[in-house]
Amino acid sequence: MIEFSDVSYVYGKHTPFERVAVNNISFKIEDGLVTGIIGHTGSGKSTVAQMMNALIAPTSGKVLLNGADINSSRTESYKTRFKVGLVFQYPEYQLFEETVEKDIAYGPSNMGLDDNGIKERVEMAAEFVGLSKQVLKSSPFELSGGQKRRVAIAGVIAMQPEVLVLDEPAAGLDPRGRSEILGRLTKYRKTSGTSLVLISHSMEDVAEYSDRIIAMNDGRILCSGTPAQVFSHHEELKNSGLALPQITNIMLKVKEKCEKQGINTDFLDSSVFTVEDAYNALLPILRTSDGKGDSYVK
Ligand SMILES: Nc1ncnc2c1ncn2[C@@H]1O[C@H](COP(=O)(O)OP(=O)(O)OP(=O)(O)O)[C@@H](O)[C@H]1O
Ligand SMILES: [Mg+2]
Repeated sequence: MIEFSDVSYVYGKHTPFERVAVNNISFKIEDGLVTGIIGHTGSGKSTVAQMMNALIAPTSGKVLLNGADINSSRTESYKTRFKVGLVFQYPEYQLFEETVEKDIAYGPSNMGLDDNGIKERVEMAAEFVGLSKQVLKSSPFELSGGQKRRVAIAGVIAMQPEVLVLDEPAAGLDPRGRSEILGRLTKYRKTSGTSLVLISHSMEDVAEYSDRIIAMNDGRILCSGTPAQVFSHHEELKNSGLALPQITNIMLKVKEKCEKQGINTDFLDSSVFTVEDAYNALLPILRTSDGKGDSYVK
């Protein structure tokens, strides 16, 4: 489990460019879950991500991994890099080897595994992200943006970290590419038991894939909890520039309209945040309204 305890991070401290990016935050990332971190541009998400694997140390406060301070010594920070895998916001800059295979092998090689062990890890990771054997032999620089992202993710998965932190893993991909990569990551989480931290400014993605959500605003935590708990703060989210998932907005409008017409809306609440939830919430009332509801929804 990762725990942030009163953590702040200031860029350019004691310079004219001083900027408080993270302002005294505390939270826990629970084992085995997908935790989504949302927040508008500049709210501090990437700074938090980099503190999770000791790439940068907090200006004040502590980051603990399974109870131990990850910044207590150089050795502790170094060990953390293998336990908490970080895929950067622009992972294409994370690639540098001549072939995809070597790139994915970089992490496991640094862990001191033998050649067979490394090969196994590379194959396993490539399969999880959907990279073919043929792609493994090519240069990472010849690949499309989406493929490069898969290589970067595979490179981190190959280290078999306890926690996998992904900073905007689906940004810039088309809707099919987004759901493919996020679906594969969810499957990887289920198979491996690895905890995922999914950083995104897409409410749709976070709502669909996360068990817990932390919403950030201007370096602080605005609200956190299950998706239902977080989305019930819709006014605060809206005020900090965070749109609700479209389907949640639609359902809130449906609720408003029903109430105006005196229709009981107990069946609807703010916990509708995927199309599937909406379908399940609406189905019973469409069925009861005239007995032929099935034909409406089909
Ligand atoms: N290297 C840096 N030097 C100075 N200021 C920085 C640096 N990196 C980030 N900042 C500032 O810190 C604040 C938080 O940035 P951060 O990148 O953590 O936000 P973010 O939530 O990841 O944003 P985005 O959604 O755009 O990726 C911003 O005001 C940003 O301008
Ligand atoms: Mg960022």
